[in-house]
Amino acid sequence: MNEQLPPSPEKISYDVGGITISPAVVLAPMEGVTNIVFRRLIRSLGGPGLTYTEFFPSKSIAETQGKVLDEIAFDPEEYPIAIQIFGRDPAVMAEAAAVVQDLGATIVDINMGCPSKKVCARSGGSALMREPELAVEIVRAVRKVVTVPLTVKMRTGYDHDNKNAPELAWRFQEEGVDALTIHWRTKVDLYSGVRDVTPIAEAVQRVKIPVLGNGDVVDVPSAHAMMQETGCAGVMIGRGAVQDPWLLLKIARWMRNEPQPVINARERERVLLLYHEKISEAFGAERAALNRLKMVAKYFAEPLVFGKSFRKAVTRSQETSEALDHIRTYFSLLEAWEAGDLGAFDGTIFDEMEAAA
Ligand SMILES: Cc1cc2nc3c(=O)[nH]c(=O)nc-3n(C[C@H](O)[C@H](O)[C@H](O)COP(=O)(O)O)c2cc1C
Repeated sequence: MNEQLPPSPEKISYDVGGITISPAVVLAPMEGVTNIVFRRLIRSLGGPGLTYTEFFPSKSIAETQGKVLDEIAFDPEEYPIAIQIFGRDPAVMAEAAAVVQDLGATIVDINMGCPSKKVCARSGGSALMREPELAVEIVRAVRKVVTVPLTVKMRTGYDHDNKNAPELAWRFQEEGVDALTIHWRTKVDLYSGVRDVTPIAEAVQRVKIPVLGNGDVVDVPSAHAMMQETGCAGVMIGRGAVQDPWLLLKIARWMRNEPQPVINARERERVLLLYHEKISEAFGAERAALNRLKMVAKYFAEPLVFGKSFRKAVTRSQETSEALDHIRTYFSLLEAWEAGDLGAFDGTIFDEMEAAA
């Protein structure tokens, strides 16, 4: 069984402030993606030991303005759930943390990893790694009010000359943080850069609390590499779960030494259409549902044949019906291709897009 896969890790769970996360494979927070519908979908397919919400601005939560509190939706059976907040004002972060704790967060997570303009412009997210004293102050303020486990998600540093994640990891531990996630990129790498997991390994050495490894875990071998090279307690999966919603299940099964699932074109189509149906129900407005569908479709078929053309076709669609037509056509062709018809895509819009690229 699983001869082609690397050996399973010996330990497949970890403890965050008294909560056991098992298996040690976690769905990452992703703005615009990991809403309640996407998280339900991933949980229904199986695999995650823990799911994260998208990030939420501490200021809006603290002031309870707008719809932010409605957006922090999760099911009672979605357990354990980490709710992530961002911001740079310690008092406001503490206030927001208390609110999300009262909403029922199993874990409160502080975002120090996001490189997006929206977050960093207000010097939250990964910009905080450049201001370690403020970062520690935020953690201290939040820890004072939060009784549930507290975690921090960060990058390895702000830039290549300042990979301070190991030092910050230790300081956060001393302030009472229960676990950490470290993405191997720095803030300036955004989503590119040359893979360097050494600072994650150093952080693992420096602290007693669990550290999750994050960044480009897209299959079982990359999950194994992350754990093997860093000694991390588990892996956090972001884009890989959008490309392949069964990825957490695959990693969980690998960890448990169970057979791998086999996913065909029809099953992929079923899951993407189901996602669209559910976001349409949940978000009402057709445009909002189409935008969320596009967000997922951007990654969904990336590793598959003609996947890049699929992405283009769906993301360029002006209307929902157009996007759905592309989805149905693509997966029918993929089914034929999987059945051995290697010319299935010839002369189709996907073929033309690939040729034009
Ligand atoms: C569309 C998108 C949205 C993201 N939103 C968040 C977020 O809300 N909070 C956060 O901490 N990280 C966010 N991230 C970063 C991911 O959680 C993760 O750290 C990063 O994508 C690297 O992991 P991966 O290679 O498995 O995707 C986001 C990433 C993407 C691609």
